[in-house]
Amino acid sequence: MILALVNIKGGVGKTTLAVNIAVARALAGADVLLVDADEQGSAADFAQHRTNEIGAAGYTAMRLKGRELRSEVGKLRGKFDDIVIDVGGQENEGLLAALKVADKALIPVQPSTFDVWSFERIADLIVDARGVNEGLRALAVLNAADAQGHDNDEAREILGKFEQIAVMDMAIVRRKAFRNAAAQGRSVLDMTPRDAKAAGEMTALVKALF
Ligand SMILES: Nc1ncnc2c1ncn2[C@@H]1O[C@H](COP(=O)(O)OP(=O)(O)OP(=O)(O)O)[C@@H](O)[C@H]1O
Ligand SMILES: [Mg+2]
Repeated sequence: MILALVNIKGGVGKTTLAVNIAVARALAGADVLLVDADEQGSAADFAQHRTNEIGAAGYTAMRLKGRELRSEVGKLRGKFDDIVIDVGGQENEGLLAALKVADKALIPVQPSTFDVWSFERIADLIVDARGVNEGLRALAVLNAADAQGHDNDEAREILGKFEQIAVMDMAIVRRKAFRNAAAQGRSVLDMTPRDAKAAGEMTALVKALF
């Protein structure tokens, strides 16, 4: 499956979820390609850091620019079990190409910084992409959420009004484990010590997606 982590809003957790999902699938035995389509290259840097820390990333990482992304990923799709694409936080060629080639778009939404305008825009881009990528499924997930509280409910209520995007029941809570894992070159599933709640949420997310 080709999964693209997308949002036109920055800092919502696209890269964090992309690398955690890539590692989770690799740990489950899948042959995974992580495509970094963000010029900042954070997901590719993570793969390098992970390789330095533990000897091998366990998946293939590749940087691709918007223009070549669609054709390259199209060619590579048969060679990997899963392809995870991380894009930057702007509306650019990389994002549009990812939406055209993906089976599923996962849109992380941070309840505390949620703004309707950017979500309306990403919803429009999903609809446009379906013009050439009919089967594109789109899911929003709350990330870096409070464990409970009004922000989550409010965000869910607004997200629920967009019928072109499904809202996942689960949420990924804001947990220090995500930063600690990244510093170790690991995911929340293979870091030490393991944070059971973060690992449980990531396992549930991956199960719901794949
Ligand atoms: N669930 C979480 N709990 C705690 N921290 C998180 C969580 N998700 C993301 N973060 C942190 O939030 C910051 C932004 O996350 P990340 O870089 O993944 O966002 P992004 O959407 O990829 O940003 P950009 O648009 O710049 O590419 C990072 O410091 C990351 O560690
Ligand atoms: Mg990023």
